[in-house]
Amino acid sequence: RAKLSKFNTIEDAVHLLQTSKNIIVLTGAGISTSLGIPDFRSKGTGLYSKLEHLGLSDPQEVFDISVFRDDPTIFYSVAKDILPDQDRYSPTHAFIAMLQQKGKLLTNYSQNIDNLEAKAGIKPDKLVQCHGSFATASCVMCGYQVDGESIFPIIKAGKIPRCPKCAPKERTTANSRKRKLARDGTEKKVRRRPGDYDSASDSEYDLPSNGGVMKPDITFFGEPLPDEFSRRLTEHDKELVDLVIVIGTSLKVAPVSEVVPYLPPHIPQIYISRTPVGHVNFDIDMLGDCDVVVSELCRRAGWDLRHEMVPPN
Ligand code: OAD
Repeated sequence: RAKLSKFNTIEDAVHLLQTSKNIIVLTGAGISTSLGIPDFRSKGTGLYSKLEHLGLSDPQEVFDISVFRDDPTIFYSVAKDILPDQDRYSPTHAFIAMLQQKGKLLTNYSQNIDNLEAKAGIKPDKLVQCHGSFATASCVMCGYQVDGESIFPIIKAGKIPRCPKCAPKERTTANSRKRKLARDGTEKKVRRRPGDYDSASDSEYDLPSNGGVMKPDITFFGEPLPDEFSRRLTEHDKELVDLVIVIGTSLKVAPVSEVVPYLPPHIPQIYISRTPVGHVNFDIDMLGDCDVVVSELCRRAGWDLRHEMVPPN
C-alpha cells in the first residue's frame, strides 16, 4: 500500500532515477536469489524454512550470539552450506554498480553476507555491510581476527574452527584421545605449528575448557551492527540523500528496517521486491522479480544495463 504521494507510477520512478544524484540503495537477500542463493524468509525456499530439522524454537537462533556461545555446532551445521562461493553477481548488483558509475550512488546498505557487492565492483567507500560478512572471522573469546576464507576448509569439513591464538594447545577431548593413543604407541603425538588452526568435530566440542572458537564476522542477533552503519546514516547520508530504493528485503530486522522511517518523509522511497511489506509505506511499490524490474527501469531510462540475465529460480 503506497502512501499518498506525488510519485506513484513507473514513469515517476524512471524520472526519479534520472534526476537523483544521491541515491541510497538498501538491499536484502532477494537480490541474490536469482544466483541460486536462498533468501531467509520466503516460505519453502528460504533458509529458515529449511532448518526445521534442527528443532529450534525459532530458526533465527542459528544466528543468535548467545546460542552460538552456548553451542556453536548449531551455526556450523548450517554454515557449511551458506559459505559464499559465487563469482557471479545478479543484474540487480549490476544495476547498483551502474548507479555508482553514473555518480548517483550515495550508499548501498546491504544486509547480505555473500559479499557479491564487491564482485559487482561496488567500492568499499560506497558500501555498508550492515550484517557483516564472511570476509573476516574473529575469536569469540579473545577477539583475534583472521581472513575469513582461511577457516572455510574447516567449516566445509563440518568442524568447528578454533582460535589459533587462545585455544589451548591440548584439547580436552580430541587431544586427550590422541595422547592416549600416543601412550599406547599406536599414534604419534600431534604437534601444532604456530598459526595452525585447531578444530573439533561436533561431538568433541566443549566450552570453555576448549578455549576460543572462531566466528565469521557476520552480525548475529544480539550483536551490534558495525559503527559505520549509524555513523554514515546519521552524520553523512541523512543530509544528502535524494532517493531511497529498497530491493529484495522483507524489512523484518531492526535496525536496518528503521532506515526508511528514519529518513525525512519528503525523500522519495521506492520498494522493489516479490513480496509487499505492510509495515512501511513507500511512494512507489514495484512488486516482482528485482532483476526484471531494474532491467525495465533501465530500459525506460535509456540506460544500457550490461549484464547477462540469469533466469530466476
Ligand atoms: P528475507 O528473506 O527476510 O527477505 C527477502 C525478500 O526478498 C522477500 O520479501 C522475498 O519475497 C524477496 N525476494 C526474494 N527473491 C527475490 C527476487 N528475485 N526478486 C525480488 N524479490 C525477491 O531477507 P532479508 O530481508 O535480507 O541476518 O533478511 C534480513 C536479515 O535477516 C538477513 O540479513 C539475515 C536474516 O536473519 C543475518 O544473516 C544475520
